[in-house]
Amino acid sequence: MKDHISSVIITGASGGIGQALARRFAREGYRLFLHACRHMDLLQQQAQDLILKYGVPVFTLQADLSHYADLHQMFQTILQEDPAPDCLINNAGISFFSLLQDAQEADWDRVMNTNAKSVFGCCKEVLPSMLRRHEGSIINISSMWGCVGASMETLYSASKGAVNAFTRALGKEVAPSGIRVNAIACGVIDTPMNDVLNPEEKQSLAQDIPLGRFALPIEVADLAWYLAGSQSSYLTAQVISLDGGYL
Ligand SMILES: NC(=O)c1ccc[n+]([C@@H]2O[C@H](COP(=O)([O-])OP(=O)(O)OC[C@H]3O[C@@H](n4cnc5c(N)ncnc54)[C@H](OP(=O)(O)O)[C@@H]3O)[C@@H](O)[C@H]2O)c1
Repeated sequence: MKDHISSVIITGASGGIGQALARRFAREGYRLFLHACRHMDLLQQQAQDLILKYGVPVFTLQADLSHYADLHQMFQTILQEDPAPDCLINNAGISFFSLLQDAQEADWDRVMNTNAKSVFGCCKEVLPSMLRRHEGSIINISSMWGCVGASMETLYSASKGAVNAFTRALGKEVAPSGIRVNAIACGVIDTPMNDVLNPEEKQSLAQDIPLGRFALPIEVADLAWYLAGSQSSYLTAQVISLDGGYL
């Protein structure tokens, strides 16, 4: 039995999956550290709604997580709070569609820094406090394309493949210290990230998914909540597919 209220850091909490994660953990009574990059207005509004509806403490933070200095500054603020967070959800990320021949070095840097280097940085910053307490759960929101690769998404697939391998490796490294690390390899989730597709493309993609539809963000949040706490105490170093049977 814990002697303190559980708390979670959710990066990219202004996005589709991030908002669902915030609501799900607020419903469970978690203290929330919610992060956004460009959409701070949206995040502040969401924080007010969660405080009113669930009565939980909510802290809001802004950082461009593709820059380590920015990320470090954000964790300086978070780690001043006592107790330190029990759970980190690395959810912030960007998509990138292009033929490899049209992609530039700057695109590689942007996609890798936002999707993969940020995961390295957030884990590195939060781990000392988790190691001290000999407990913690880290959840990386990854993609099925990191497992098998997608045409026109080589950079995105590489970034999520890095997250998947990182998850398995770090999970093994810190398991003896009581910390668990898992990833969710998402299929297609109904969020603004897929607004690059027109309605016909969305329908055709849904037909390729055995369950016949995109996942709802709350379905990712439900799995993340399961991975966060003692209900999944023997589960670590895993990349769990949530893709409606797509792969
Ligand atoms: N939707 C899908 O089909 C799908 C499938 C597989 C995996 N995923 C993964 O799920 C995660 C969330 O995706 P989503 O669908 O919820 O996307 P989304 O609605 O576009 O949200 C993306 C989030 O990432 C944040 N972000 C973007 N660039 C950032 C940066 N440089 N530094 C810090 N934060 C940054 C955004 O913050 P601001 O808006 O405040 O800038 C936003 O909160 C991503 O890692 C994505 O790769 C999504």
